Amino acid sequence: MSSYNKLLHTYTKEFDEKGISLETVKLFLFELCNENKVNLYLDLDKEALPVIEERFREGVKRILDGEPLNYVLGYTYFFGYKMLVNGDVLIPRYETEELIGLILSKTDEYCKDMDKIVAADIGTGSGAIAIALAKEEKKFEMSATDISSEAVEVAKANAKLNKAKISFMVGDMLEPIKEKGIKLDVLISNPPYIPSEEVMEKSVIDYEPHVALFGGSDGLKFYRMIFEGHKDVMKEHGMLFFEIGYDQKERITKLAREYFENAHIEVLKDINGKDRMLWIRY
Ligand SMILES: C[S@@+](CC[C@H](N)C(=O)[O-])C[C@H]1O[C@@H](n2cnc3c(N)ncnc32)[C@H](O)[C@@H]1O
Repeated sequence: MSSYNKLLHTYTKEFDEKGISLETVKLFLFELCNENKVNLYLDLDKEALPVIEERFREGVKRILDGEPLNYVLGYTYFFGYKMLVNGDVLIPRYETEELIGLILSKTDEYCKDMDKIVAADIGTGSGAIAIALAKEEKKFEMSATDISSEAVEVAKANAKLNKAKISFMVGDMLEPIKEKGIKLDVLISNPPYIPSEEVMEKSVIDYEPHVALFGGSDGLKFYRMIFEGHKDVMKEHGMLFFEIGYDQKERITKLAREYFENAHIEVLKDINGKDRMLWIRY
């Protein structure tokens, strides 16, 4: 039996050795306490509930092995919405929240006279993008696809959790949208964009699904597939939004130019000043 305070400091040495900050451990314990309606900071010196202590000790082992905190917890937050995550889906990243901000502001500006905006999120993973957009803008009539049926199951659970109405489909890139004959006003994708040979952080490569990471030898395979097929799924006045790798701006702009001759093509930076989002407007 230990107090919360003692639990927190039991593993300091091991965390130090692995370069994991005490903040990570604190956040983990804080979330476990929250789930059990305990206020960690008021009860710091009280004896820990057995259920919390057990989950904490088991979870700390996984974190020390290098597993990302959000997989250990089983959830994360994206744009303020709780999203369940497991090894079948990528943990949604902060950078992607900025893409949501961009899409909301551009649809506000260019779709304000429309009653509904037909949209699709291609490669939805946990469903984070589709769900955040559907919750934030009621005009979206949202579909979401992924090649991984396991990922789509997680996304469906997240849509239910957040009471978001989304039509989910399993399939290769634009195929499910084409098959259903859906014509989009807005297409969104954060596809796998890491070149296959790139050396990655161990916690990413060991725990996150590889189908969510790698985008062929140059990292552009999935953008190419969407650019090639865009005419089959888009309406005439559509907009497309993508997350991109920080070093892909020149190559992706050149590629986009080949497929969207007269469109406005713009790469926008994220909060860290890195090229992160591609916006195409016919
Ligand atoms: C970088 S993750 C993005 C996940 C989520 N949209 C997000 O932003 O957190 C890319 C997603 O694309 C999916 N994917 C990979 N290849 C695909 C394909 N050929 N067709 C559809 N989805 C694919 C993966 O399963 C993964 O969920």
